[in-house]
Amino acid sequence: MAEKGPIGVFDSGYGGLTVLKSLVKKLPNYDFLYLGDNARTPYGTRSFQTIYQYSLQAVKYLFDQGCPLIIVACNTASAKALRNIQQKDLPKIAPDRRVLGVIRPTTESIGHFTASRHIGILGTKGTIQSESYLIEINKFFPDIRVSQEICPMWVPLVENGEQDGAGADYFVQKNLDQILKADHKIDTLLLACTHYPLLIPKIKKYLPPHIKIIDQGKIVADSLAEYLHRHPEIEKRLLKSRSIKFFTTDDENTFNEKATLFYGRKTIAEKTDLNIG
Ligand code: DGL
Repeated sequence: MAEKGPIGVFDSGYGGLTVLKSLVKKLPNYDFLYLGDNARTPYGTRSFQTIYQYSLQAVKYLFDQGCPLIIVACNTASAKALRNIQQKDLPKIAPDRRVLGVIRPTTESIGHFTASRHIGILGTKGTIQSESYLIEINKFFPDIRVSQEICPMWVPLVENGEQDGAGADYFVQKNLDQILKADHKIDTLLLACTHYPLLIPKIKKYLPPHIKIIDQGKIVADSLAEYLHRHPEIEKRLLKSRSIKFFTTDDENTFNEKATLFYGRKTIAEKTDLNIG
């Protein structure tokens, strides 16, 4: 039988740590290996081809580290690269391993949160322009009206530690006003970017209290637990020694300083160049 390995979790930077936190809470016995491509973040403003190339390199790296299963904990990479990786690359490079994203589990469950059947999606340019959320939600819940809003400043604000500052007030209020102007019946707002949970205090300040804020961590964790239940052939290949390792493509000390904000605990990261040339 193939050797056992950890669950790989990949993001363009720190954002995926908000998902990892929920995964570890839900599945505490498993081993995880987190990879943040901090040297090349953000992905949200890049072209399809670039996001696909970077994401594939990250996936190959995590396979080299022995991960039988990878969670792409980045909406932008899930929207732009995942389908190609699953359909085109996986059959060639690792047909017995799996790569899952965050969009599918979110769109499968989003319909259960809204009473008005009007929801809002906030994300990066890459995620919103891909229309992945519109297409997927329409498949599962065709009765729901979806409005989308690109929030181009939210990731830079969080990356620069400005999530509690006055700049955050300005941009959060601006984007919330826009989406509520587009559809005032919205009762559910999805944070379709793994960085955005850090802005929840500001979002709550400017959002009418009846509107639910949905962040993806718990949804993705619940969905992974179900997936492992349905796929014992993958589950039995996962290590369960509660080890959690962190890799970054940029400076490890900077990663450790910033990661706590997203992960809620201290990290000890190692630097990697993804074995690229
Ligand atoms: N964390 C990424 C996401 O969920 C956004 C950050 C980026 O632009 O790289 O979409």
